[in-house]
Amino acid sequence: MRGKSVLLIIGGGIAAYKSLELVRRLKDRGVSVRAIMTKAAAEFVTPLSVASLSGERVFQDLFSLTDEAEMGHIQLSRSADLVVVAPATADLMAKLAGGHANDLASTALLATDKAVLMAPAMNVRMWNHPATQRNLKTLKSDGVLFVGPNEGDMACGEFGPGRMAEPNEIASAIENYFRSDRGALDGVRALVTAGPTQEPLDPVRFIANRSSGKQGYAIADALARAGADTTLVSGPVEIAPPTGVWLLKVTTAREMLAACESALPADVAVCTAAVADWRPEITANNKIKKEKGAATPSIRLIENPDILATLAKHRQRPQLLIGFAAETEDVVAHAAAKRLRKGCDWIVANDVSPHTGIMGGERNTVHLITANGAENWPELAKSEVGSRLAARIAETLKGKAA
Ligand code: CTP
Repeated sequence: MRGKSVLLIIGGGIAAYKSLELVRRLKDRGVSVRAIMTKAAAEFVTPLSVASLSGERVFQDLFSLTDEAEMGHIQLSRSADLVVVAPATADLMAKLAGGHANDLASTALLATDKAVLMAPAMNVRMWNHPATQRNLKTLKSDGVLFVGPNEGDMACGEFGPGRMAEPNEIASAIENYFRSDRGALDGVRALVTAGPTQEPLDPVRFIANRSSGKQGYAIADALARAGADTTLVSGPVEIAPPTGVWLLKVTTAREMLAACESALPADVAVCTAAVADWRPEITANNKIKKEKGAATPSIRLIENPDILATLAKHRQRPQLLIGFAAETEDVVAHAAAKRLRKGCDWIVANDVSPHTGIMGGERNTVHLITANGAENWPELAKSEVGSRLAARIAETLKGKAA
């Protein structure tokens, strides 16, 4: 990312001190940083520290005539290759989600024509508040990128999600954005399955599992950002679809298989969905009632189609077929056996034991199993797992085409 420039908007939160370290890390990597600070930010770190580290003057006031003479706020908002908001406070998120522009930071965010990456930081209750979660959803669907927040002890003494991502994580997310693999998947057709499936017992009851869909959505997002024409076949989940993907919503495993087949041909398919292995043999047309004196009903299950294995044998088999393996013991050995059993090219394996917090969480520790063995990836944000996987896919497809 040497030679790139970042417009860093520093919001008013205790995490602002970490932004100083971020500036240093970006400068070390050859990135120039120009900063805007909100009024509240200047209560936590001084503009002088930011200016000394960035080597550039710091912008604070929307109505400063000098600033307008030197550079208008519109020009400032477009002067960098990427806009980074760190810390992104609840207020800054709300302003952008609502389209407000009443200070320099919010005006720059609204006026920019560049991508925006936010690193949220706030108290756990503020983060979990429906208003913030609503804003997050809106911003994501507007194409704003996010890194963090992480979970942990907070300055206010509480514990939970809301801690700003560490400067090195934000720097990696920025690096990721600038990676030359943007456009690396231009012309490639990708298929991703994600989320759980729901298998109905009757019109109101179903069998399902705890999959959040986050990793699959992050992969679809990364593939689309790298330029792939991406179809995301998703079971019922609570998260907003990434921008630029074709979303096919399904409920059952059989619907998921049909949707996948309709999306073929594809050059690469990534099956992250936690497909229910079985479904009730009979789905009652009406709600099963509790008849007085009647025996407790038992549910007979029958096997669902295996989508990954079906794609592996399909006459339109994607040239690169990737499965996931959610394991709770002997992760690599089980996943390697699964790769052969299912007939896919790679397996991304992870340990989903409850203590790992991976299911439903924001981070993941995966092993990539290929014909050449297992690679152990470090613990990463799910978005970063997606980006790295997209980069590997691009590299491999390019190799195959050559
Ligand atoms: N998968 C699928 N269709 C199914 C079951 C699984 O496409 N009916 C895919 C998943 O999307 C994942 C891979 O197969 O990519 C592994 O799924 P997993 O449930 O971990 O494996 P199983 O075959 O169910 O093996 P086991 O339950 O014994 O671990």
